[in-house]
Formats: sequence, structure tokens, C-alpha cells
Amino acid sequence: MNPDFDALAAIHAACFPRGWSAGELAGLVRQNGVILRSAPDAQQPLGFILIQSVLDEAEILTIAVAPSARRQGLGRILLTEAETAAQAGGVRKIFLDVSQNNSAALALYRSAGFVETGCRPAYYSDGSDAVLMEKTLPALDGAERSA
Ligand SMILES: CC(C)(COP(=O)(O)OP(=O)(O)OC[C@H]1O[C@@H](n2cnc3c(N)ncnc32)[C@H](O)[C@@H]1OP(=O)(O)O)[C@@H](O)C(=O)NCCC(=O)NCCS
Repeated sequence: MNPDFDALAAIHAACFPRGWSAGELAGLVRQNGVILRSAPDAQQPLGFILIQSVLDEAEILTIAVAPSARRQGLGRILLTEAETAAQAGGVRKIFLDVSQNNSAALALYRSAGFVETGCRPAYYSDGSDAVLMEKTLPALDGAERSA
């Protein structure tokens, strides 16, 4: 079933000052190497994550959980599912950047094993610094990897 990009765009708009349109989200997902995971199912998504992978590296483009559905474990589930899918595709390292002021996301990433590797001063439009984080994934053996 095709993702409901209007629903995903509505979630994104509720999470960020500049939301991505349904068309922008659909365009991203059409690109090679972009993994979309939405939860709990495609008919009534309450959150989603987009990860873009190139060879053995991936970047988290966005993760968003509807305000009404937060603190119920959904963000962690989405992150874990995306990591698993990326790992199955051969990804060994995942990168992300997050505002120094985003305590919820920082706590989620730290608890998921991401470590801070750097900082981009005044990176975001609100003047906050970007915290750069990464996580190394263990290699899967051949049988566990997808084609
Ligand atoms: C960040 C976000 C995706 C977390 O989603 P969520 O479904 O609420 O997260 P979970 O319920 O899975 O929480 C997992 C862990 O993250 C941390 N966490 C999540 N929200 C938190 C908060 N408001 N304050 C402190 N820690 C928080 C906790 O460690 C939590 O584990 P715990 O519940 O066992 O304490 C959500 O807050 C969101 O969509 N925010 C707006 C968009 C955004 O900022 N995205 C990240 C951009 S880099």
C-alpha cells in the first residue's frame, strides 16, 4: 500500500516550524536508498522516520511523532525499525544532526546508542547549534543481509 503522504505531511507540519509537503515527502521516498517507516500502520500513521543510505552509510533525514502520540515508545520503535532495515541493506554507520535545544530527540538518540561527534554552531534558523551524532551498527553475516 502506498504511504499516505498527506497524513505524513500533517504530522511533519505539527512537529517542525517548516513542514515538508506531501509532494516533497513523496519525492524523497522515490529516491534510491531512502527508507520510510511509518507507524502503527500505513492507514493511520502517527509517526514516521526517513533514512537515506548511500553504500554503507546512512543519514536520518527526519523522525516525527504526532504530538498526541508521544512518550508511548513510537519514536524508539521507528528508530529501531529503520536501523534494522538499513543494517539489512549493508549500512554500518548512521549519522544525524539535532538541535542542542531538542531535549526529547537528544534523549531518544542517546538512549538508542548514538554518540556525539561534533557541533555546527548556529546551524538552525532559530540560532541553535546542531549536535552531530553517529552510531556504528554491527555487520550482519551474509544470510541476514537483504539482496
Ligand atoms: C523526538 C520524538 C520523535 C520522540 O518520539 P516519542 O515517540 O515521543 O519517543 P519515545 O516515546 O519512543 O521515547 C523514547 C525515549 O526518548 C526519550 N524521550 C522522548 N521524549 C522525551 C521528552 N519529551 N523528554 C525527555 N526524554 C524524552 C526518552 O529517553 C524515552 O524513553 P523513556 O520513555 O523510556 O524515558 C518526538 O518527540 C518528536 O516527534 N519530536 C518532534 C520532531 C523532532 O524533534 N524530531 C527529531 C528531529 S532531530
